[in-house]
Amino acid sequence: MNNPQTLKITLNDNSYPIIIDANRFNLEALTNVVSKRKIMLVSNTTVAPLYLKQVVALFPENKVFSCVLEDGEVHKNINSWQHILDQLAAHQFNRSDLLVSLGGGVICDMTGFAAASWMRGIDFIQMPTTLLSQIDASVGGKTGINHPQGKNLIGAFHQPKAVIINVDTLNTLPAREFNAGIGEAIKYGGINQPDFFGWLSEHVESIKQRDPLILQELIAQCCQFKADIVEQDEKEQGVRALLNLGHTFGHAIETITDYQYLHGEAVGLGMVMAAELSQQLGHCDSDIRKMLENLLQAFDLPIKLDADVTSDGMLQLMKADKKVINNQHRLILMKGLGAAFIAEDIKDSEITAALKCCLTHT
Ligand SMILES: NC(=O)c1ccc[n+]([C@@H]2O[C@H](COP(=O)([O-])OP(=O)(O)OC[C@H]3O[C@@H](n4cnc5c(N)ncnc54)[C@H](O)[C@@H]3O)[C@@H](O)[C@H]2O)c1
Ligand SMILES: [Zn+2]
Repeated sequence: MNNPQTLKITLNDNSYPIIIDANRFNLEALTNVVSKRKIMLVSNTTVAPLYLKQVVALFPENKVFSCVLEDGEVHKNINSWQHILDQLAAHQFNRSDLLVSLGGGVICDMTGFAAASWMRGIDFIQMPTTLLSQIDASVGGKTGINHPQGKNLIGAFHQPKAVIINVDTLNTLPAREFNAGIGEAIKYGGINQPDFFGWLSEHVESIKQRDPLILQELIAQCCQFKADIVEQDEKEQGVRALLNLGHTFGHAIETITDYQYLHGEAVGLGMVMAAELSQQLGHCDSDIRKMLENLLQAFDLPIKLDADVTSDGMLQLMKADKKVINNQHRLILMKGLGAAFIAEDIKDSEITAALKCCLTHT
């Protein structure tokens, strides 16, 4: 494997590199982006003790400040976002300065949103440190925070100047978080990459053992899949919506269980629900749900929602999701593995019927 491995995401005005290195945050190609700018590093209380010092040392010629937030999805909110802005204000950051995220998807999303909103948009770099953020959240420019009413309801499209991935950071990631990242990887298989679904099935053991070469290959493949879709549709007017496979169900699961399920776990469960609904509506046969469940289980991911949740409660939250248009549900369903499509006009009763076949408590 080449180190570093560089992919490019090509957008009209906002192209940028994704630089994947086995064991360091490689900024060699970014001297122009970084040069002498004031930097605000945004991290959290778990990741900062592990990697902040190492990252500060990457910027010997810059004035570097850091903003260390509380850890957790429950802190992906207006207060944390405001705290970042307060720090930017206190240190007089302006449009020639730079924000850098160091953490998982929560930190990437919040840093990106702070960068999008401060002075109507300043530059930022993503340094994702979870599998989920390395294969998904750091790429594509969707930034945001949660509202008590639901996930990611506040946000902006704002592309980073670069995504810098140090694969070695995955060695400190707890197993449950690591597996949750695989939930999003399986998603790409479900959308339009049936071969990748097979590749994941063949490499279960080496992935779980965190074989560094296999992980680098996994990350590069997923970033490429995402880049291919985002390049066609940066602002989600069409095909990019496919990336939401499992997400309308998944967001409802996260909200209704008060974030007891990790995002990648909820997306995995959401894909099972999407497969069930696809089958009930006659788009695919029951093999698809089974194959998804088998792969999720191989990575120790849940396939049943183990919480006191009703199909009605789920439905109400799904209505609050951003994907409801004129009161009709718009969901990503599957005609087969790797054959996802945007399904319009889905009725409440159809969703409820599918949910009843997936929930432990109905
Ligand atoms: N913007 C997008 O396109 C996009 C895509 C997918 C997901 N997301 C968002 O990403 C978030 C989920 O991201 P996540 O799964 O990375 O969760 P996370 O950011 O909460 O990180 C998971 C946990 O791992 C810790 N951690 C991070 N890196 C570590 C490391 N190297 N070693 C040890 N611990 C580490 C974190 O502190 C946290 O406790 C959700 O909020 C989701 O909405 C966004
Ligand atoms: Zn996701």
